[in-house]
Amino acid sequence: MLDTFTDEQRQFLQLLRLPVPGEPPPEMAPVKPAVKAVSAVPNRSVSAQTTPVSGLPAGLRNALPATAALSTAVAPTPLRSTSLLSKAEALQAPVLATQASSSSADPQRITRIATLDWRDLNNMVSTCQACPLGETRKHAVFGAGNPRGSWLFVGEAPGAEEDRRGEAFVGRAGQLLDNMLRAMGLSREKDVYIANILKCRPPNNRDPLGPEVQACMPYLQRQIDLLQTRVIVALGRFAAQGLLQVDTPLSQLRGTTQHYQGIPLIVTYHPAYLLRNPIDKRKVWEDLKRALGVFAELQK
Ligand code: URA
Repeated sequence: MLDTFTDEQRQFLQLLRLPVPGEPPPEMAPVKPAVKAVSAVPNRSVSAQTTPVSGLPAGLRNALPATAALSTAVAPTPLRSTSLLSKAEALQAPVLATQASSSSADPQRITRIATLDWRDLNNMVSTCQACPLGETRKHAVFGAGNPRGSWLFVGEAPGAEEDRRGEAFVGRAGQLLDNMLRAMGLSREKDVYIANILKCRPPNNRDPLGPEVQACMPYLQRQIDLLQTRVIVALGRFAAQGLLQVDTPLSQLRGTTQHYQGIPLIVTYHPAYLLRNPIDKRKVWEDLKRALGVFAELQK
């Protein structure tokens, strides 16, 4: 897979400071400015495909993947109630802190979200007060890219720049994400929609809390229902664990093909993590190649 290198793949390898075969050792490639988001309305409406799961809070049921068919070498650790987690574990797994506020877990709210079209969903997100982040955000960030694209990349939550501009992945992590997309031969404008687990920025970029994730998941779930995604790439632990509703460590989810409602899902590191740990970019390239391979298989 991808034995020959296009210019963009070469650029990514240079970004990784990895040698491109037959070329001198790379310098760090300049990071290009992020592409402006496109906010079109998808032309296809798909009814919500949710699998009710008994024994879970109402706010969680619609957020669960409908398929249990995970074609993976690693079985995800099943969802656990936070009350069963030790304090240290709970700090490691805030995605699974399941006590959503009573209003955000309201079954009527969740059912209503599952029926909204793209525009009404966007409107509801922009005025959302379902969790305390509604008080502290400047802008809710709905998503970016092409809603008709075949790819969905899911991040964690807006950062300061995203909160200021109301657009997803426009800060430094976004610039790196754009380079990753270019290396894959993809672009935001044409191929990719980008969304986050949380629509609002947590103060000081702290980790998302479980109740915030549970309050926000119905929005992402509805976006995925309305999109035409063929392959999902989960960027980082919060995206992976939030979508899959597991507390399996990222290290075990990477290198496998998971599924969200029957859509193949590949887990990789978050670009912000990569900015701090550039040594792991090689692993990201392996993950992205896996995603491209899965997509190529779907085209056959
Ligand atoms: N990090 C994310 O996870 N999402 C953004 O939109 C920006 C930074």
